[in-house]
Parts: sequence; C-alpha cells; structure tokens
Amino acid sequence: MRREAKVTIVVLALLLVAFLLVYVAASGVAIVTAPVQPIDFFHRVHAGDKQIACEYCHRTAKSAALAGMPSVELCMRCHRVVIPHYREIQKLHRYWESGVPIPWQRVNRLPGFVYFNHQAHTVTGKLDCAECHGKTETMDRLVRTAPLTMGWCLDCHRKKRASMDCWACHR
Ligand code: HEC
Ligand code: HEC
Ligand code: HEC
Ligand code: HEC
Ligand code: HEC
Repeated sequence: MRREAKVTIVVLALLLVAFLLVYVAASGVAIVTAPVQPIDFFHRVHAGDKQIACEYCHRTAKSAALAGMPSVELCMRCHRVVIPHYREIQKLHRYWESGVPIPWQRVNRLPGFVYFNHQAHTVTGKLDCAECHGKTETMDRLVRTAPLTMGWCLDCHRKKRASMDCWACHR
C-alpha cells in the first residue's frame, strides 16, 4: 500500500473513534466502568451458577443504607476447601493470613453530598437489585450499568411517585 493511503486510513480511523466517543457522551449512555479488582471474582459463578443469594454477601442490602461488602472470613467459609490451590484463591488465602481486608475497587459511587439508602429502595420501593445494577449474575468482572446522575434518580422517582424533594437526597 502507498504511504499516503496508509496515513489516510489511520486519520479516518481516528476520526471515527472521536466521533463515537462524542456520540456516546452526548447520547447520555453510561460509559461502562469496570475497575480491575485485586482478586478476579466472578458474580456469574457465585450468584449465577452457584445461586448464592445477593444478601449472603451483601448482608445489609435490605436493612440499611449501605449494602455491605463480604469479609475475607465469609469467603474463607467456602474457600478453605473449594479450589484452594487455584491462583486467585491463593491470593485470598494470603489476605486471610495477613489479616488485611481485600481492597475491592468501588464500581458505583455517588458524590459525598448525595444521600442514598438501599433499604428505602429494596424494601420500601420493592425494587430488584437489577433495576440499578443490571444482570450481575451474568457478569464476570462487574460493570456499572447506571449513569448515577441526578437526572437518572429523578426519572425513576417521577415514574414511581417517590420523593422529588431536594432535601430527600441532599440533606
Ligand atoms: C458459599 C460458598 C462460597 C463463598 C461464600 C464464596 N465462594 Fe468463591 N466459589 C465457590 C464455588 C462453589 C466456586 C466454583 C468452584 C469450582 O469451579 O469448582 C467458587 C469460585 C471462586 C473463584 C474462581 C471463579 C471466579 O469466580 O473467578 C474465585 C476467584 C472465588 N470463588 C473467590 C471468592 C471470593 C473472593 C469470595 C468472598 C467474597 C468467595 N469466593 C466466596 C463458593 C463460594
Ligand atoms: C459470594 C459473594 C457474593 C455474592 C453472592 C454476590 N456478590 Fe456482589 N460483590 C461481591 C464482591 C466480592 C464484590 C467486590 C468485587 C466486585 O466488584 O466484583 C461485589 C460487588 C458488588 C457490587 C458493586 C459494588 C460497588 O462497588 O459498587 C454490586 C452492585 C453487587 N456486588 C451486587 C450483587 C448482586 C445484585 C448480587 C446478587 C445477584 C450479588 N452482588 C451477589 C460478592 C458477592
Ligand atoms: C435504586 C437503585 C439501587 C437498587 C435497587 C440497589 N442499589 Fe446497590 N447501589 C446503588 C447506588 C446508587 C450505589 C452507590 C451508593 C453510594 O455511593 O452511596 C449502590 C452501591 C451498592 C454497593 C456498594 C456499596 C455498598 O452499599 O455497600 C453494593 C454492594 C450494592 N449496591 C449492592 C446492591 C444489592 C445486593 C441490591 C439488591 C438487594 C442493590 N444494591 C439494590 C443503587 C441501587
Ligand atoms: C429505579 C427507580 C429508582 C431509582 C433509579 C432511584 N430511586 Fe430513590 N426511590 C425509589 C422508590 C420507589 C422509593 C420509595 C418511595 C416510597 O417511599 O414508597 C425511593 C426512595 C428514595 C429515598 C427515600 C425518600 C424518603 O422520603 O424517605 C431517597 C433518599 C432516594 N430514593 C434517593 C435516591 C437517589 C439519590 C437516587 C439516585 C442515585 C435514587 N433514589 C434512584 C425509586 C428509585
Ligand atoms: C432523588 C435524588 C435527588 C433529588 C430529589 C435531587 N437531587 Fe440533586 N443530585 C442528585 C445526585 C445523585 C447528584 C450527583 C450526580 C449529578 O451531579 O448528577 C445531584 C447533584 C446536584 C447538584 C450538583 C450538580 C453538580 O454537577 O455539581 C446540585 C446543585 C443539585 N443536585 C441540586 C438539587 C436541587 C436544587 C434539588 C431539588 C430541586 C435536587 N438536587 C434534588 C440527586 C438528587
């Protein structure tokens, strides 16, 4: 191929990428975020194949503001004996032995000035986790599926006749 032709193709490809990025940003589609986690943990295996209930690991998702994260001890209840020699489980054993909590990276996070409460949604609002978190039981690395903007909260609040009062979320 001639050199100019190659340059033209590269330039066109870059323009296409730029166009797509602007398009995605403008259309309000959530740009998927999936941070690399310290242990390659799959929801598909635990919540999907093995059908472990969400609340077994996220204990307070129906009783408090925060859903809560599983302790290393909870993982060890099974992984003392389940695939103990697998590389990722060896990492888990090292956290257990050193007493260091696993530094899971947050996937969904609101700014500090916003008040959010799980119980209000999962119990009072009778919403399924999937309404806001997608089909987690099919995910390998967990991804954020909602934009978490004020517009997103208000859209649903309007539909479900939940509070539209500023002080409900900004207290
Ligand atoms: C109730 C039992 C149970 C608990 C609790 C549990 N696991 Fe598992 N885990 C399993 C089973 C069963 C498998 C599948 C093993 C196989 O493939 O034979 C598995 C597989 C895995 C794997 C390999 C597949 C994958 O998902 O990537 C990793 C890594 C893992 N678990 C990490 C964890 C961590 C970290 C915790 C704590 C947050 C945890 N597990 C809690 C039962 C459990
Ligand atoms: C065996 C334990 C286990 C089970 C069962 C489980 N989770 Fe998790 N969950 C974790 C761990 C460990 C993390 C942190 C690592 C990650 O993000 O993948 C996590 C992270 C999450 C997060 C992201 C938290 C954040 O930082 O925003 C959501 C949302 C979530 N889980 C929802 C669910 C839902 C919904 C179910 C049931 C369908 C479920 N989980 C079942 C262990 C579990
Ligand atoms: C109405 C939307 C909504 C529903 C329904 C919902 N969540 Fe969440 N979840 C969020 C938001 C928003 C955050 C981030 C909260 C923050 O940063 O203060 C979050 C954060 C989390 C976290 C990480 C921080 C924490 O709270 O410990 C986990 C784990 C989680 N959700 C699990 C669940 C599970 C399990 C269910 C179902 C039982 C569920 N969520 C239902 C919106 C929701
Ligand atoms: C998918 C729908 C949905 C989404 C998305 C949603 N909410 Fe809600 N919210 C509800 C429902 C339903 C209720 C319960 C209404 C009732 O009291 O019956 C509720 C209740 C609340 C309450 C309690 C209000 C009160 O008066 O006690 C707060 C606070 C709240 N939501 C904040 C938020 C925030 C912040 C977000 C965005 C990060 C959000 N919600 C996103 C549906 C939603
Ligand atoms: C149902 C929950 C909810 C209600 C009700 C709500 N907000 Fe918000 N607000 C949010 C969330 C979530 C954010 C952070 C995400 C964002 O900036 O979109 C936010 C962000 C903001 C910001 C900061 C914007 C920025 O980008 O810095 C302001 C200012 C604000 N809200 C004002 C208000 C006012 C005024 C009202 C009442 C008319 C109100 N909000 C009602 C959820 C809510």
